[in-house]
Amino acid sequence: MPVNFPELIKLKRDGGELSLADIHAFVQGVKSADIQESQIGAMLMAIWQKGMSDEETLALTKAMMNSGEVFVWPEEWLVVDKHSTGGVGDKVSLPLAPALAACGCKVPMISGRGLAHTGGTLDKLESIPGFEVNQSVEQVKQILQDVGCCIVGQTETLVPADRVLYALRDATSTVESIPLITGSIISKKGAEGLSALVLDVKFGRAALYKDLDSARHLAQSLVTVGNRLGVKTGAVLSRMDAPIGRCVGNAVEVCEALECLKGRGPDDLTELVTALGGYLLWISGHCHSLETGKIEITQKLKNGDALKKFQAMLVAQGVPADVAHSLCSDATNNFQYMKKAAHQTELKVPQDGTVLEIDGLALAQVLHKLGAGRTKSGEKIDHSVGAELLVDIGQWVMKGQTWIRIHHNSTELSTHQRSDLQTALVIGSSNRYKIESRVAEFIYPK
Ligand code: URA
Repeated sequence: MPVNFPELIKLKRDGGELSLADIHAFVQGVKSADIQESQIGAMLMAIWQKGMSDEETLALTKAMMNSGEVFVWPEEWLVVDKHSTGGVGDKVSLPLAPALAACGCKVPMISGRGLAHTGGTLDKLESIPGFEVNQSVEQVKQILQDVGCCIVGQTETLVPADRVLYALRDATSTVESIPLITGSIISKKGAEGLSALVLDVKFGRAALYKDLDSARHLAQSLVTVGNRLGVKTGAVLSRMDAPIGRCVGNAVEVCEALECLKGRGPDDLTELVTALGGYLLWISGHCHSLETGKIEITQKLKNGDALKKFQAMLVAQGVPADVAHSLCSDATNNFQYMKKAAHQTELKVPQDGTVLEIDGLALAQVLHKLGAGRTKSGEKIDHSVGAELLVDIGQWVMKGQTWIRIHHNSTELSTHQRSDLQTALVIGSSNRYKIESRVAEFIYPK
């Protein structure tokens, strides 16, 4: 019997619970285009308004995952990954994937591109000459076999239903729905064939969720569904007000990630890499506690093993061997291999005091306008645009001191851009300032 989609929409619209068969039929309809776009939009809005039970969210996630290919790896591999809900200056994946590979894990990291103020890992990596994010399943398998990690774009065959649903969620203002976000993220991670997954769910001014409670709510849904899908899943709730590290952009963030891989990255970046990596090593069963996991990741960053894996990954993904070698050599000024912006403009601190805040959102919005980000998917971006922060939160600064260097290709920053940037810097008079750690809370697998 053909599925009666209007009846399913009515059921959800009126607050009823969809059965497993209903949800399967809906996702199949999306995949095979048997359902009209208007009906998909109406169902998305009904889900947005009425929500879904845990059972429904799990059924949606499973149906989405099975709408395409599901990777199967050799049984002896410990296959792990991380997903972040997106932030400003978030280059954590770049050191984390090779650090985990250096611990013996396999990391088939499928990443995305930046949209609006958040940067994308693929865009960052594409600022390295030759880096190829498009790899076939066979190539991914070979790189995992030879190197242990890769960072690639989504293949055509993985979760095709999400591509349709995601575009229609965007068009129908139904993106911010916990069951829909859970289905979208966990179906793709489930299709990667993971043993364990850690989610970095961010909260704060520059994050999707502004407060800890709503981030926790999302994290709990992701963790519940991930575990019920058979992937050992945990989450870290992390603060996202100021940018992570001191660099924001694409090429500049790769340079900072390389510093982290050389054991001398900024404290907050290193904290996130060790916390997320250590947590993953623990929940995956690789080690017996969070602390031992963190120690192992720290060692791999300090002893050069993670850096060697990163270098091998670059070569496996198309970067000429001499470029990869130079980028990863200790003495290199990394900028020499990256495309440079034509201009650098430095802004000055307006008064003596302590740096209380650096507003990551305001900074990212200016960089976006200068070409570092995209407004619509598919748009080209300028990898050389970015910012280097020259002061830290909690630091005492003096009037006239340089606090930020902007790399740009437009001849001059406009008055507006300068004033938006200056309002991103908040100076106060207190000289006692407690720097909060990035990690606020762990959500354990259940
Ligand atoms: N990332 C995804 O892949 N899907 C969402 O719905 C939100 C973030």
